[in-house]
Amino acid sequence: MNDPKDRKQDQDPLLLDHEYDGIQELDNNLPRWWVWLFYLCTLFALLYMGYYHVLGKGDLQIAAYTKEMTLGDAIKDAAQQKFESTLGSLEPSRDLVVLAKGGQVFTTYCAPCHRNDGGGLVGPNLCDDYWIHGDKFGDNLKIVITGVPEKGMLTWKGVLTPSDIHAVASYIFTLRGTHPPNPKIREDQAPVPTEVFE
Ligand code: HEC
Repeated sequence: MNDPKDRKQDQDPLLLDHEYDGIQELDNNLPRWWVWLFYLCTLFALLYMGYYHVLGKGDLQIAAYTKEMTLGDAIKDAAQQKFESTLGSLEPSRDLVVLAKGGQVFTTYCAPCHRNDGGGLVGPNLCDDYWIHGDKFGDNLKIVITGVPEKGMLTWKGVLTPSDIHAVASYIFTLRGTHPPNPKIREDQAPVPTEVFE
C-alpha cells in the first residue's frame, strides 16, 4: 500500500517513484524565468571569461588597482607640488576651525618635541622671535614639509596632508609672542660645549 509505484498512476503523473521518509518529489518543469536567468548567467560568464581571461582586454583586479593608485598618486603629487610652489605667498589662516585642527595636529605630532605650549624641548622654542630657519610663515611651512632630519626635526611631507601642514603652521603662528614658562634657551645663546672630543 505504501509502495510509491502503486500510487503513481492514481495520484499525479509528475510524481517520481522514489520516496524518503514519506517525502516524495514532483518532476515539474523549471519556471521560465528561472531558465532564462540561467541562460543569461551562462552567457554573461562566457562573455566575461572571453573578455577578461581569453582576450585579456579588460583589467583584472590587480591591474585596475595599480592604475587607480597611480592616478591617485599623481593627483596627490600635483596637490603637493602646487602647495610647495605657493609657500612664499601663503598666509597663516585665522579661521578658528583651521586653527583648532592645527592645534590638534600640534598636540599629537609636534608637542612631544616642541612642548604643548611651544616652549621647546628637543625641538626649539616656537614662541620667541628667534628662528633658526627664518621667521616668515613660508619658512615655517618649508621646515615642516622638509624637516631637518640631521637635527632631529622630522619630515612631515607624506605624513601630513598639505592642508594639515598649513593648519599646524597657522597654529604655531598664533604661539608667537606668547611667553611660556621655562622656555628652551635660544640656540644662539646656548653655551658652547667646552670639552672637545677627538
Ligand atoms: C622628533 C622631534 C620633533 C618633532 C616630532 C617635531 N619637531 Fe619641529 N623641530 C625639531 C628640531 C630638533 C628642530 C630644530 C632643527 C634645527 O636645529 O635645524 C625643529 C624645528 C622646527 C621648526 C623650525 C624652527 C626654527 O627655529 O626655525 C619648526 C617650524 C618646527 N620644528 C615645527 C614642527 C611642527 C609643526 C611639528 C609637528 C608637525 C614638529 N616640528 C615636530 C624636532 C621636532
